[in-house]
This record gives sequence, structure tokens and C-alpha cells, in this order.
Amino acid sequence: MEYDAKAYWERRFAGEPGLATTGFAGMGLSFNRWLYRGYRAALRLALKRSAVPLGPNTRVIDAGAGGGFFVEFCRARAVRDLVGLDLTAASVDFLTAGSPNTSSTGSIWAGIPMTRRPRRRRGMSVGSLSHRVREGFEAAIENLARMTKVGGHLVIADNFLPIESPYEPGVHQRHWSKDEFERRLDACGFRVLRYQPVSFLLNAPVRFKHTRWGKAYAGLWNGIQKRVAGVEWRGNVFGCAAYLVDRPLQRLLRAGPGAHYLFCRKT
Ligand SMILES: C[S@@+](CC[C@H](N)C(=O)[O-])C[C@H]1O[C@@H](n2cnc3c(N)ncnc32)[C@H](O)[C@@H]1O
Repeated sequence: MEYDAKAYWERRFAGEPGLATTGFAGMGLSFNRWLYRGYRAALRLALKRSAVPLGPNTRVIDAGAGGGFFVEFCRARAVRDLVGLDLTAASVDFLTAGSPNTSSTGSIWAGIPMTRRPRRRRGMSVGSLSHRVREGFEAAIENLARMTKVGGHLVIADNFLPIESPYEPGVHQRHWSKDEFERRLDACGFRVLRYQPVSFLLNAPVRFKHTRWGKAYAGLWNGIQKRVAGVEWRGNVFGCAAYLVDRPLQRLLRAGPGAHYLFCRKT
């Protein structure tokens, strides 16, 4: 059956996006609160390490804003000029209701013209590109480049899966390798600054090798996922334990088995 991104996300949000629906589907709110704590911690660390400014004078677009995780992150840093873009009416309505000053638009960038073209930005988030662009990857990066000023930054969260990865993405995902990203970003004038691993235990491992250890690790996570799904207190306990493991690993390791942030600068 033909994949329709807008219908898929509208259905998944069922009227209101939130951490439990934008995060790891089926794992519940308690677990996803920990997951997003991990995302916030990794983002803070990467901003500091790459010396990317994010403050009152940064102009930001959050492309694929969903429940507004990054919008909130920016608001906590007093960013004033902030636009949340999303494909779905559910997200745009939700963001507009929560903050009338945050102008969100329903337009998207993957080759589809915007209804309202925001001013060019110095900083920008793309959340996970694998969840946004099944097709039109090149057009998406081009549009993001058009929206970013020279000297501005683009932040992408993705799995950056090696092409030979045994991981099978869901119907709403399409993965692009690190090489594919870097080639396209380079062609659009971006220089890669840093990769920051986000999750080790807090999300399913997707960048594992087809070895005995790799398969055992993925199997262990799948087993935990089955026991946690639908039971909030288990999600809370597992999420907390995984978060405590992940925090030092985010600092120590340069790559992990799950999502990464990629920071780049437009030159
Ligand atoms: C996994 S959620 C991430 C939401 C949020 N950035 C976060 O990190 O919690 C993916 C979001 O991207 C949006 N999306 C999917 N395809 C898109 C597209 N082509 N253009 C803009 N947004 C898109 C979905 O509606 C959804 O809100």
C-alpha cells in the first residue's frame, strides 16, 4: 500500500502530539519522558562541545516539530524568533495553542512549496530525518540549506545507518547513511562539525553488526521492550536505569548504537 506521510502522522498523533506519540511508539509516557531527557542531555552536550550558540538572538526553525520537543528546548533558552514547521495539522494546532507567539506553519520542505516562507535562520533543527523524508532526501537537504544563512547551523537527528545494516526500518522510515548525508550536505555548502551519540540503552539499537554480540544486544532490547510496553511503572524503572547508563556514555563515546545528532555549519 502507498505510504502517505501526512495520514500516517495525523493518525499516530490522533489529534494531539506528545512525547508518547513522537517518541518510542508503544513504550508509554513514563519511558518516553526518560528518552527525551536523554535527548535533551545529548543536545546540551553537543551544543557546548561544538560551541554553537543558541540563545535569545538565534533564529530557529524546527522542521518536523511534532509535539514541540525542540521548540520547548529553545524556549527554555529564551529564543525569541522560533518557527515550528510540521506536515500535520495536529502538530501545528498543538504548537499554536501552546504558544501563540511561536508561529508554526503546516508547510514542509521535502520538495513541497511552503505556504509561508520563514526568514533565513541561523540555527535549525531537523529532528530525525528518517522519520520525515522517505523520498525527496536531496530536495529536503537543499531546502534546509536555502533556509540557513551562511554561518548558520543545521542540526540533524538521525540513525545514520550503514547501508549494510541488518536493521529493518518501519513503514514510516527510510534510512540514509552517513556517507549519503555528508555528500549531500557538502554539495549544499555545509561543513560537518560533530556527531554526538544520543542513545545507548534508551532506544532500540539499530546500528549493530550482524555478529553474535550484535544480535544478542538487539534481542535483549526487544525482550525488554515487550515487557515494558503498556506498563507505565516498568517504563519508568527501565527508562530511569537506561538514562543513568546513557549519560556517562554520551560523554565518553563518539558513536553509539542508536540516534546521533549531527551538527553542521553553512559555509
Ligand atoms: C518522530 S516525530 C519527531 C518530532 C519532534 N521533532 C521530536 O523530536 O519529538 C517526526 C515529525 O516529523 C513530521 N514530518 C514527517 N514528515 C515530514 C515532512 N516531510 N515535512 C515536515 N514534517 C514532517 C511528523 O508529522 C512528525 O511530527
